[in-house]
Amino acid sequence: MKVVDGQQMTAQWLKMNRLSIGPQLRTNSVLVVYLLLLFFSTGQSKLIGSSQPIVATVGDDIILPCHLEPAVDVTAMTLEWTRSDLDPRYVLVWRSAQDLVNAKHPSYKGRTSLFTDELKHGNISLKLSKVKPADEGKYQCYIVKLDEGSLVELVVGAAASPVISIAGIEGDKGGVVLQCESKGWYPEPELLWLDAEGKILSAGPTETVRGPDDLYTVSSRVTVEKRHSNNITCRVQQRNINQIRETQIKFRDDFFNSLSSSAAATVAVSVCLAVCILFILLLVFFLWKIKNKIKSKTPDKNNHATKNLSKSKTQGQVSVKEERESLMTNESVQMKVFNKEEEPKKTKNQLQEEIQRMETNNTEMDTCLISQSSADTDIIMEVDKYGKYIRLRNQSHEEKTMTGWKLKLQINNKKPLIYTFQSSSILKAGETFTLWIAGHGGAHSSTEQVWFGLKPWNSKDTLQFTLITNNREIPYDPVYVL
Ligand SMILES: *[C@@H]1O[C@H](CO)[C@@H](O)[C@H](O)[C@H]1NC(C)=O
Repeated sequence: MKVVDGQQMTAQWLKMNRLSIGPQLRTNSVLVVYLLLLFFSTGQSKLIGSSQPIVATVGDDIILPCHLEPAVDVTAMTLEWTRSDLDPRYVLVWRSAQDLVNAKHPSYKGRTSLFTDELKHGNISLKLSKVKPADEGKYQCYIVKLDEGSLVELVVGAAASPVISIAGIEGDKGGVVLQCESKGWYPEPELLWLDAEGKILSAGPTETVRGPDDLYTVSSRVTVEKRHSNNITCRVQQRNINQIRETQIKFRDDFFNSLSSSAAATVAVSVCLAVCILFILLLVFFLWKIKNKIKSKTPDKNNHATKNLSKSKTQGQVSVKEERESLMTNESVQMKVFNKEEEPKKTKNQLQEEIQRMETNNTEMDTCLISQSSADTDIIMEVDKYGKYIRLRNQSHEEKTMTGWKLKLQINNKKPLIYTFQSSSILKAGETFTLWIAGHGGAHSSTEQVWFGLKPWNSKDTLQFTLITNNREIPYDPVYVL
């Protein structure tokens, strides 16, 4: 059994309280001073921008920071982002909790916005997308009601790697003229030629050209001689945007020797020539051999193709359509033979397989025509030649809900017909959805529907499809049935 001594407990209690009274008092006084400070400063929250310039590269999406300290909810206030050197000077105006798009300077339309969720925390940072060189400047964020503003400077840069090329040879001096060019800088960069030790070489003047996109192209030439090192660097740099790009060219140790002594040069040239001629002879020989090989195979293959074609002719009825296709097949066979010259390794079996594959492709072509949209879409349309069905194929990796989608079909130049997909029509990733023309198939599964009141089309009709999804119209290339 535990016995508690009341006296001891009281003493302990007193001790504890005495000990804790000191710090508690101190904390309280700090709090009071802080509250007093807050009280006197709330009258004037300060807008804080950025003391450092914001450095961006052309094409970037960036944030120009600006926030109130201490934070105040500014959602309902009128906020402005301006550039005093512009007319109109507004980059963004926020009034009645709305972005006043029409007040903006035209060059910022569609490119500036606020982080609306941040406004309640007094954060009025500006989002600027697709930065251009002309965006460079001093921006002011301003809150009308508080008459508070702050400046943020934006520096826009663009950098690109230089390219070195050989511009000429100065035989008398035994030197090579190198040219270095770098396109797409902003602001104007400087160009330097350096040797292997990093020493600056004396070069011709730097030529600078400013393009219509405001970007600079710089170029310069230098003559490199034997007394220079074998390693030459072209450096293009822009300090304000902290960008350096370099390209190096290396010469063989004996390069300049051979250049300076014309005899050596002649020897080098003749050796090179001899090697080249030998190489060409070898190439011709190989090509000739390959050609012979193919010649021995070609008749056999053509026979095979013709045999198959005549087979298909006897099976089906000979129509204009089929003759066209036969022509097509022959053409593709010839093309294949031509290709064979480039890749002579394929065996006879592989060739036959390929021809078979081509034929299967053709049979597929017999039942449907494929229409692809030139717009950016993942949906391909397969149209039956005989007007039995239209099939949509989802080439993407996401499922598409087609509820409310419409398919517009214009046959020749007649009035367009419109089909509206029934609710809960779903086009699964990689799968198809078949729209049967009434009388040719039924809606037996969730990926089939029937288009009533549409007559099958005929040969010589031109079909023009437009798929109308929830937010856009996707035109498809016309299908010529023939
Ligand atoms: C303001 O909002 C932007 C965008 O969300 C954020 O990047 C930035 O850090 C915020 N600033 C402050 C001071 O919270």
